[in-house]
Amino acid sequence: MKIGPIAFGERPLFLAPMEDVSDPPFRILCKRYGADMMYTEFISSGGLVHDAEGSHKKLDIFEEERPIGIQIFGGDVGQVREAAKIVDAVGPDVIDINFGCPVKKVVCKDGGAGILRNVPKMRAITEAVVAATERPVTVKTRLGWNDASIRILEVARMLEEAGVRALAVHARTRAQMYRGEARWAWLRRIKEEGGLSIPLIGNGDATTPEKIRAMFDETGVDAVMIGRGAIGNPWIFRDAKVFMATGELPPPPSWEERVAVVAEHLTLKCRWLGERKGVLEMRRMYGGYFKGFRHASRLRQLIIEEPSRERIIERLLNFREDAPAVQVAVPAKARPARLSEALAAKLPSPVARPEAVETAR
Ligand SMILES: Cc1cc2nc3c(=O)[nH]c(=O)nc-3n(C[C@H](O)[C@H](O)[C@H](O)COP(=O)(O)O)c2cc1C
Repeated sequence: MKIGPIAFGERPLFLAPMEDVSDPPFRILCKRYGADMMYTEFISSGGLVHDAEGSHKKLDIFEEERPIGIQIFGGDVGQVREAAKIVDAVGPDVIDINFGCPVKKVVCKDGGAGILRNVPKMRAITEAVVAATERPVTVKTRLGWNDASIRILEVARMLEEAGVRALAVHARTRAQMYRGEARWAWLRRIKEEGGLSIPLIGNGDATTPEKIRAMFDETGVDAVMIGRGAIGNPWIFRDAKVFMATGELPPPPSWEERVAVVAEHLTLKCRWLGERKGVLEMRRMYGGYFKGFRHASRLRQLIIEEPSRERIIERLLNFREDAPAVQVAVPAKARPARLSEALAAKLPSPVARPEAVETAR
């Protein structure tokens, strides 16, 4: 399958855009384990146009992440158009429009899934973004606003006509939020009855290698987009690829590999955000990495007490699953300072932002 000029192999796996999760440190790990396409978290058009520092920070992308999409949202046609120009100047491979976010404060202004109640405006926003850039524009949306208004077949055709080069569908309605099962039968219907020539990216509940394969087999989608299944589990891309190729699951990562990846994730976060913020933001991630492990909550508690990256890594390396209360001293030569310096050097500089961005701000 192709998105504009970007060619993918068979059955590509996409990392879903996820607020506060799919940042550069996490994306670099997912890429290493096989993500074929990734996105930033959604970025407010208003924030970009009004120069909010937080929104501009989310534009950071790195050469080794390509192909990478930057996702924007907003319900004001003019503002989304201006935001698309700002994003265009940063140089992503794709600009993605979020028409799927179910959160009240987004939908009430016609942003995210809110626009599913106003298809003509959805078209106007899409056309404005397509006109603002030469880059491929893609859309991520849901089946409809609620069960009584599922118009995804018509919406998909409209989006293709408006110039969209690929469509990702989270197979739930806005009313479902994240509840109930994703309705994969709709993905199949879009493939079979939609009459689309652009690729369809399936999303929703593809959370294990088995389910990822099942989504391809049962729906015929061109790519599968993985969200929650990747949180604390960047190995899912590798595991799903091995499973689809051989029918066998690779052994799960050892405790040591898991700890090394957590340490690296933390180090990359600190490098990207500064140590204080990196340490704080990383706290949300431990639950995912240690889910299902004995004494995971004890480990999390120990980590959360620590203020510095180095001390956290020390805690991690010291932790014994079988004796969580006992803190074993790490021999000096095994201390992680050297490890972390080597890892820190890995996070490269962001893609150089052209002058145009500075002028646009
Ligand atoms: C923590 C979190 C943050 C999310 N943020 C975004 C976002 O910024 N943009 C977006 O299009 N979808 C966002 N989503 C939705 C996911 O991209 C995806 O559509 C949804 O989780 C269903 O896929 P899954 O079952 O594989 O998780 C988010 C989901 C989660 C769990």
